Amino acid sequence: MDKRGPGAQVGIGLLGLGVVGSSVATALRSPVGRDHGLRLCAALVRDPSRQRAVDLPPEMVTTDPDAILDSPDIDIVVELMGGEQPALEYISRALSAGKHVTTANKEVISKHGERLRELAAENGVSLQYEASVGGGIPIISPLLNDLVANEILGLRAIINGTTNYILTQMASGGTSFDDALAEAQRLGYAEADPTADVDAHDAVYKISILARLAFGVSVPVENIYREGIRRTAAQDFRYAEELGYTIKLLAAARREDGGLLVRVHPALIPGDVPMAKVEGVLNVVEVEGDLAGPLWFQGRGAGAKPTASAVMGDVLRAAAVLRHGGTLPQARQIDPGLPLLAMAEHECKYYLRLTVRDRPGVLAQIAGVLGDLEISIASVLQMDADPERGAADLVIMTHPAREANMQRAVQRIDALGVVDTVANLIRVESYPADR
Ligand SMILES: NC(=O)c1ccc[n+]([C@@H]2O[C@H](COP(=O)([O-])OP(=O)(O)OC[C@H]3O[C@@H](n4cnc5c(N)ncnc54)[C@H](OP(=O)(O)O)[C@@H]3O)[C@@H](O)[C@H]2O)c1
Repeated sequence: MDKRGPGAQVGIGLLGLGVVGSSVATALRSPVGRDHGLRLCAALVRDPSRQRAVDLPPEMVTTDPDAILDSPDIDIVVELMGGEQPALEYISRALSAGKHVTTANKEVISKHGERLRELAAENGVSLQYEASVGGGIPIISPLLNDLVANEILGLRAIINGTTNYILTQMASGGTSFDDALAEAQRLGYAEADPTADVDAHDAVYKISILARLAFGVSVPVENIYREGIRRTAAQDFRYAEELGYTIKLLAAARREDGGLLVRVHPALIPGDVPMAKVEGVLNVVEVEGDLAGPLWFQGRGAGAKPTASAVMGDVLRAAAVLRHGGTLPQARQIDPGLPLLAMAEHECKYYLRLTVRDRPGVLAQIAGVLGDLEISIASVLQMDADPERGAADLVIMTHPAREANMQRAVQRIDALGVVDTVANLIRVESYPADR
């Protein structure tokens, strides 16, 4: 259908009319949508009887995906259902039918982005996914557009609002992980099943997408080092604060030793860097380009309106292509010269919290193990002692050490008779002094 004539309308089909879909539907039917000639044709749902945040004419709401995917009136399909299937199948069908697609689905893009990008190119249409990372924060478009002349050196991000809310509560209120999670669930920031967030699958999907765009490397989610926040305890925040740090769930991708290391784990962040102050459900992505230097993208990583803002940006770009022709910028070519590195090769300082027998000579045994593995101790804090149990918390900060050595040391320390438990091992994120 020719969309270039004056007054020609661009037909939109929504797959999903939930939190984000309802907000996108509202925007499409607002002056913004109307002034750009956008027309919402149909919205797919599971249960048409459900009360929704948008009031659409009943004939516009359907349970039949073909009503959207096979409709000649629909030029742009907006996938806002979530989950891997049937979203993947519907996106593939829409692209194959020559429809532009925008999606907020991080799982589908992180796992199947390569194939879907090819499918879009084969069919001469666009595939956009600005809302899949960072909600309302524009980050995909800057990586595809404004920063293309840069070699990206590194990315560092807080990209999961649920865990950032939980960690912020634990840092400020001395709250336990379980209590902070329960509060996040009560406020609707965490799902009843919090696995995707607290075990860091969500952050892994997102850093996989960002790393693909920033570095031109395909980063399968199973190759990303992943550690969630369940082990993080209230006393870790107390001790970290004494040492001048806070704790965040960090997602990072950086060029190191001729390769790319992508990792998601809790990290000690120095209290005086901006990332330490990103609190609650906010997200941030720090990008370092060789030309642009360090850049900082902060905002609301979720929520109906911020996410609709990102989706609508995609829709308006696709509508402009339909009207004026041209193509949208694509992901960088895959760089075969940049291999993915294993976490074992990472090097950083470590925070090690142990519960030990409160007796002389304990530290000497632990220091002996660390020394054997070329790990030198920067400082030791003997914290809460429990005279009744004859045990005490010992916190050791190391100088930079290799991850493989540190993991070996933890196994050996755990086997020492004087050590009750290795309660936590947290990596310390380093920041150049000149920032
Ligand atoms: N919520 C956020 O703040 C946010 C932020 C960034 C990205 N995202 C992403 O945006 C997407 C949508 O999230 P959301 O929070 O809006 O989800 P949601 O509230 O659960 O809405 C999902 C919608 O999809 C429909 N749906 C799901 N499976 C379906 C199926 N098999 N057939 C037909 N309809 C189906 C549901 O229908 P019913 O209504 O009938 O159940 C519902 O309308 C997800 O990919 C999510 O990761 C969300």
